[in-house]
Amino acid sequence: MNPSPTSIHLSLETGEVEITVLTPRLVHVRQAAGELMPRRSWAIPRADADFPAVPVERSESDAGITLKTDLVAVTVRRADGAVSFTNSAGRVFCADAQAPRVSGRGVHAARQAAPGERFYGFGERAGLLEKSGRLLTNWTTDPVRSHGPGVDPLYIAIPVYLSLQPGLCHAVYFNNTFHSEFDLRRLANRTAAEPAIMEWRADGGELDYYVVYGPTPAEALHGLTELLGRMPMPPRWALGYHQSRWSYQSADEVRQVADEFRSRQIPCDVIHLDIDHMDGYRNLTWNPQTYPDPAGLVAEMRSIGIRLVPIVDAGIKVDPAYRVYASGLQQDAFIRKADGSLAQYYVWPDDSVFADYLRPEVRDWWGSLFEEHARIGVEGIWTDMNEPVVFDKPFSQGGGGSGTLPLDAGQGPAGERTTHAEAHNLFGLGMAQATYEGMRRALGGRRPFVLCRSGFAGIQRWTASWMGDNDSWWEHLAMSLPQLMNMGLSGAPFVGVDIGGFGNEATPELFARWMQIGSLMPFCRGHSSAGTLPHEPWAFGAEVEQISRTYLALRYRLLPYLYTQFWKAHQCGTPIFRPLFFDFPQDAALADLNDQVMVGPLLMAAPVLQPGVRARAVYLPAGEWFDWWTGRRLTGGGWTWTEAPLDSMPLYVRAGAILPLGPAIQHTGERPLDELMLEVYPGEGEFTLYEDDGLTDACERGDYCQTHYRLHRRAGNLELEVWAREGSYQPPVRNVTVRFHGRVRLGEFSYTDDGTARHLRLGN
Ligand code: GLC
Repeated sequence: MNPSPTSIHLSLETGEVEITVLTPRLVHVRQAAGELMPRRSWAIPRADADFPAVPVERSESDAGITLKTDLVAVTVRRADGAVSFTNSAGRVFCADAQAPRVSGRGVHAARQAAPGERFYGFGERAGLLEKSGRLLTNWTTDPVRSHGPGVDPLYIAIPVYLSLQPGLCHAVYFNNTFHSEFDLRRLANRTAAEPAIMEWRADGGELDYYVVYGPTPAEALHGLTELLGRMPMPPRWALGYHQSRWSYQSADEVRQVADEFRSRQIPCDVIHLDIDHMDGYRNLTWNPQTYPDPAGLVAEMRSIGIRLVPIVDAGIKVDPAYRVYASGLQQDAFIRKADGSLAQYYVWPDDSVFADYLRPEVRDWWGSLFEEHARIGVEGIWTDMNEPVVFDKPFSQGGGGSGTLPLDAGQGPAGERTTHAEAHNLFGLGMAQATYEGMRRALGGRRPFVLCRSGFAGIQRWTASWMGDNDSWWEHLAMSLPQLMNMGLSGAPFVGVDIGGFGNEATPELFARWMQIGSLMPFCRGHSSAGTLPHEPWAFGAEVEQISRTYLALRYRLLPYLYTQFWKAHQCGTPIFRPLFFDFPQDAALADLNDQVMVGPLLMAAPVLQPGVRARAVYLPAGEWFDWWTGRRLTGGGWTWTEAPLDSMPLYVRAGAILPLGPAIQHTGERPLDELMLEVYPGEGEFTLYEDDGLTDACERGDYCQTHYRLHRRAGNLELEVWAREGSYQPPVRNVTVRFHGRVRLGEFSYTDDGTARHLRLGN
């Protein structure tokens, strides 16, 4: 018997079971065919032993053993190791429907589903928000281009889900990096007679999982990200608009694009440099003809408030004269096949090799390659093709396709050597980690921005994610909402899709609609494939250009609010772009709402996602709401019908909202937050504004500040209480305009914000 009071250790005929309580809401379950394996270094940031002991009550009977915290009880059956969880009210919320099977060849578990239980998360997926009825594979894959709503898997594999029942929510992380599946097909068309079962399978490893009890979605996400890790604060500029294209072919083209943004007064902070900026697709090089003076270009762009983010691919060109290849070879950094030869395959540079990012010394080597980029002022890196994907023939001969490395290729550090079968899903995660850590070291205190296509659970610790190669289809615009909302519910908040669609041509109307909702996505980037017509915001005529300008301007004005949401995500794992049930978990009508989204707790967008549509039905959860554009007050608790002409995306604010807005700017470095506007909507509410220098890691050492606002009714009047600013970071002394969207009229008040407390009587 294990002496630890917080864990159970059982030896069954079929193998070992270990259950450990990590926090009052977080429990780790492991079951192996024989002895339990030593912990893998790449799995999660915190080992069981890193969690301080929590009070646990233990009870035993002939049938089983139970561990109980204030929130949950977990019981394991002695006979077969089946596990079940109940909450403090005695409700079962997660239970084996039959004894789990773990053998040398794989893992199988069948979980009981409650009537009406809904399933979300699962990382990056096509299709709708709720996943009952689907077979979901965890295997990082570049799908054959042009994927439809049924395609699975995609680039990022996150074996995490969130279960929602009335009044009860929990999350699960299936800690197994082999090819695995969540099978929810037996949940479709549920009948009372049929047991509702969700199955998990994996092609190797152990049955190893964590259960996180809510009971609210916010608490479940908090607990989940306590385990998997949270997003570091990105630099503020990374919240601006990013413009990309495969590829801007020369420094002159980059200058032209930047000039267009500035002369047309469309806000922009970042231009991405796709593969053609390199010298023969050699990572971290520059084409000497088309990008002759990278340092000069980076500096010139910086002088007008634009940062360049170059791409770096997983495939490293085989070329003895190329320093990355040569130094990697010297370090023995590249993955080798089972026979010991280099795993050499085709990608953009034709013959390519792949670094084994599972090994810490390889990550260090890779990270050190970014010093030169950082030295010339590059602060962001885009990493790609890291599922990893390999081509069927050389790219120079028209190669493409979606193969990967051989499953028996060796990977991992000494002591934990494994094969690509266990490591495949981790390739993007490791590349993102190595890139982030290298950039962080190289930037010496400035925050890097990293973007990465593939990933696994915990990817948010290192990078923002985009959803890969979508198409300029209305279906993909519609899909982007459930896709990003589910990413957020899987722990990854800094996410976006290629605005306008990557493949094919957007119509002006599609682009306008995409820009409207895209402007509120946490990661906001327009990108398009080679061989398509230009997709910059001005490429679709004056009307669409104006729509792009309006919505990007709105994003920039919302930055104080959005930045605060990033802080919340950084601190608590709270998704930024999230389904309505996250904020209104009691409302059963929201469970399948695919086409509306909360952006933080105060704003709700209901974008138009079909062609020709100029009005739509919008569901408003209970409470009062205000139309963002007209200020009109609406009563929630049902559907409303609203006009949505091409230039307008329905957008709503919750009653009691205190929404901080900044001045209109063209880029985030234009001026500090020296002017603030508080849009205040009648009701009771609170908001805490977060601020820091936006650029350095000082915030991690506590150099930030927070201002707390509270809106409440006193003697018939609404009063805005501004608390004294807390924290060491000093924003400029500034004018604050309070715009009160009152019952009768819009009231404007202003005060000088020097960090001291004050009360404002706003009226009713
Ligand atoms: C991949 C990426 C895409 C990029 C292209 C060329 O398809 O997903 O964003 O433009 O490669 O690098």
